[in-house]
Amino acid sequence: MSEESTQASSPVQVRIWDLPVRICHWGFVLLLPVLWWTAENSEMRWHMRAGTLLLALVLFRILWGFVGSSTARFSGFVRGPLAVIAYLRTIGKGGDKTLGHNPAGGWSVMVLLLLMAAQTFSGLFAGDPFDGATGPLNEELGIGFSADMTDWHEFAFNLILGFVALHLAAITFYRLVLKDRLITPMITGTRERGEIAGEMAPVPAWRALVCAVLAGGVALWAYYGAPGLF
Ligand code: HEM
Repeated sequence: MSEESTQASSPVQVRIWDLPVRICHWGFVLLLPVLWWTAENSEMRWHMRAGTLLLALVLFRILWGFVGSSTARFSGFVRGPLAVIAYLRTIGKGGDKTLGHNPAGGWSVMVLLLLMAAQTFSGLFAGDPFDGATGPLNEELGIGFSADMTDWHEFAFNLILGFVALHLAAITFYRLVLKDRLITPMITGTRERGEIAGEMAPVPAWRALVCAVLAGGVALWAYYGAPGLF
């Protein structure tokens, strides 16, 4: 097919986010306030259940970053510092348009995912056995380790809030200054093609099923005290 006919038949809308990416994303958005509220109100059974769900979502998203569709893959959007600087230089001229995450946004994804991974991991060990609720693995690696994890669990939540604020500020900047709507595509999975080249390459649904079983299995195993390990 010639370049001209390819352009002529290009759809106005282009797919950019697959369903698993969107489910993970809006799951994070729902679960963070639930985790905060349940901790503040000492609803620790629900806090641990919601935390286990968040752990499963984060593990799923990490696996999906290796085997998911092209825009979900870390290899597709984690770029070196030179690419980030080159991208940031284009911001003044409206910012280069990319199919998925741009080089700067890619790093914000990594930071948010790593923080949520650290938050859920530390929650498994957090708490004081003599005073209040404890995570399911609290006693397994010693009191000192649990105390460190408890401190981190409290500190990292504020760090996550800070990065979420930055995340929302960046999205608002794109909307108001660069006139780029990012939220609707995170809901519908598609956006207007505009200057964007290429197409998201999807992968078969069974991959998502395998990742969900693995991620859910590990999260539940940890929730029930990691039998066989300790
Ligand atoms: C109402 C609040 C939020 C809105 C409107 C929002 C919106 C968005 C949008 C539009 C994107 C796509 C950015 C792009 O085009 O590159 C995105 C990506 C992302 N957001 Fe949010 N976000 C919100 C809250 C959160 C929270 C609370 C977290 C977790 C702490 C989070 C974590 C992420 C991650 C990890 C991605 C990358 C998605 C992926 O590739 O899996 N967001 N968000």
